[in-house]
Amino acid sequence: MENLNDKLGRKIDYLRVSITDRCNLRCHYCMPAEGIKEKSHSEILSYEDLIKIIKTAQKIGVDKVRITGGEPLVRLGVEDLIAGLSKLGLKDLSMTTNGVLLAEKAAELKKAGLDRINISLDTLQRDKFKKISRRDDFDNVINGIKAAQNYGLDPVKLNVVVMKNINDDEILDFVELSKNNKLVVRFIEYMPLGGETESEKFISVNEIRSIIDKKFKLIKTESEGNGPAEYYKLKSAKGRIGFIAALTEHFCADCNRLRLTADGKLKPCLASDLEVEIDKSMKSDLILKSFKKALMIKPAAHNLNFDDELKYKRSMSQIGG
Ligand code: GTP
Ligand code: 5AD
Ligand code: SF4
Repeated sequence: MENLNDKLGRKIDYLRVSITDRCNLRCHYCMPAEGIKEKSHSEILSYEDLIKIIKTAQKIGVDKVRITGGEPLVRLGVEDLIAGLSKLGLKDLSMTTNGVLLAEKAAELKKAGLDRINISLDTLQRDKFKKISRRDDFDNVINGIKAAQNYGLDPVKLNVVVMKNINDDEILDFVELSKNNKLVVRFIEYMPLGGETESEKFISVNEIRSIIDKKFKLIKTESEGNGPAEYYKLKSAKGRIGFIAALTEHFCADCNRLRLTADGKLKPCLASDLEVEIDKSMKSDLILKSFKKALMIKPAAHNLNFDDELKYKRSMSQIGG
């Protein structure tokens, strides 16, 4: 194995793999109401090709893989992909999902070899869930979270994108949730990447912290996972709390990741239109060449801001976060 760094010396050992651009929700911050123009089946990489690409990624030092979407659980047979990937000897195999289909899939995913799961949940209120996601699936997600816990997809993390005047009134409720449940609740800064985000809704991790600090004492804990979150807990809590300051404290200098889109492009950065095509022949040496190229052109940092939102070709749902 060659352990390759990018041109700035960053060690890249984490690949986020989007397996579909389709989603069964329509969250405002992620895609427009009408959805996005979906890629045809022929444009989407087969499971066989995905496994081949991930095996090649291992040659450059990738040992952590996260399956994303769109919504990964809408793709048929996703458990077969997980079973295939679990044979590769990765250190960590995880998934980010909206949880809608998780109650029916959690057992199979665990059995297939998925280590752990992150679930998006921005509100604990059924009506608000419908407003944010434009779908009435709150109960399904709650059942999905319970199923993930029951079947041992551990740790279960909840991703909460915090938005002013939308769900910032629930910050303390989410903190309480982490006290009484073995869940990791992560507050994420709202990023201008969905196609229709609004700067007035932005609320920084510092502001979120100050709301929590008024009521609770947070104790710093060790970091975990492969992402940039910082972790805390309440005294004698069952769960933990994380913060992802994607805009205010961007973590680009320590970035450890590349992304693969469902249609076979390597993205060196979430917030950039730079992409490297993977040759359709799927020859290992050509795949390796694409990875090396993606490392060479990986930008030093993102420059996200709300004025530039429409600048990017792909919205969040087409990248997988
Ligand atoms: P763990 O390994 O559990 O820490 O997962 P993760 O945080 O890497 O993955 P997840 O898919 O749960 O992402 C959480 C949030 O972090 C999402 O809102 C992502 O969009 C955001 N995020 C992930 N990677 C990046 C990145 O490279 N840059 C920025 N700015 N945000 C990112
Ligand atoms: N800002 C911040 N996070 C976002 N996500 C999707 N769109 C945005 C956005 N505009 C999050 C989802 C999911 C993760 C992959 O990315 O909530 O948990
Ligand atoms: Fe779907 Fe996730 Fe985007 Fe919501 S954030 S629309 S769940 S891809």
